[in-house]
Amino acid sequence: MELKDRVAIVTGGATGIGRGIGLVLARNGGSVVVADLDADTGEHTASDIASMGVQSMAVVADVTKPDSIEKAIADVLARFRHIDILVNNAGVAGARGWQTVPDSREEDWVAAFQVNVKGIANSTNAVAPVMRTQRYGKIVNIASIAGREGRPALPHYSSSKAAVINYTQALADELAPYNVNVNAVCPGLLWTPMWDQVGHRYAQFNPKYQGLPSRQVFDTMIRDIIPLQREQTPEDIGNLVAFLVSEDARNITGQAINVDGGAFLR
Ligand SMILES: NC(=O)c1ccc[n+]([C@@H]2O[C@H](COP(=O)([O-])OP(=O)(O)OC[C@H]3O[C@@H](n4cnc5c(N)ncnc54)[C@H](O)[C@@H]3O)[C@@H](O)[C@H]2O)c1
Repeated sequence: MELKDRVAIVTGGATGIGRGIGLVLARNGGSVVVADLDADTGEHTASDIASMGVQSMAVVADVTKPDSIEKAIADVLARFRHIDILVNNAGVAGARGWQTVPDSREEDWVAAFQVNVKGIANSTNAVAPVMRTQRYGKIVNIASIAGREGRPALPHYSSSKAAVINYTQALADELAPYNVNVNAVCPGLLWTPMWDQVGHRYAQFNPKYQGLPSRQVFDTMIRDIIPLQREQTPEDIGNLVAFLVSEDARNITGQAINVDGGAFLR
């Protein structure tokens, strides 16, 4: 995929899936902006990306705060003058402490929708005017296979991810006249800091996984629900993102695509 001269912003790009996406976009020649709440880890990732021979910068941004994301976008424009790619990856599984309780709390519903849904809208609202003026842009929203079907575990999370898929369709329609493609990627199971916490929660509250170390919960679940019998990696997600933002995917928009080893066949 040729992304030379393309400028990409990855929200939540400091760690986990976002870091993986940034590294793959850089491998394909793109300039990468790491936008994250976590300043130190964001700087570290941006410096790893720059060491691959592309331009990179870290910006501190909280996607739940329109002012914060608008300031970050202004800083990016001051340096690069254009923004071609927005990857809305920042997400949470709940409010602080979500992994220590068996049921969704009020604050978990608020956090999931504030970050996972409104956060995507805030970032998109800040970048879309730039893309409209350019009459060019690619937006990829990171949803989840959890958004494909409601499940009892973490309903606040799965319903927020279903909303991401729905919002992706609406936005694709809205921005199509401006030559902006909008798609969603639905990752399956990836061993990231977020999943480490998911594993702790299962080990506490699900009798099947009672007392197991988090990584063992993850490995058991891979065997149980992934037909290809292997975990997905941030690089797998990055590879699909790199395709979707390339000209090879110029006629793909409004789609949600699973990268899940066959866990969901729809
Ligand atoms: N790990 C999985 O198995 C999995 C599966 C499906 C979907 N996802 C989705 O992929 C995305 C990344 O997940 P991950 O596992 O890498 O998570 P993670 O918790 O490991 O990393 C999330 C990153 O987002 C940043 N972030 C959180 N809130 C933010 C905010 N308000 N503003 C800016 N940055 C913020 C964090 O600082 C962190 O760097 C999320 O949207 C998640 O829901 C993950």
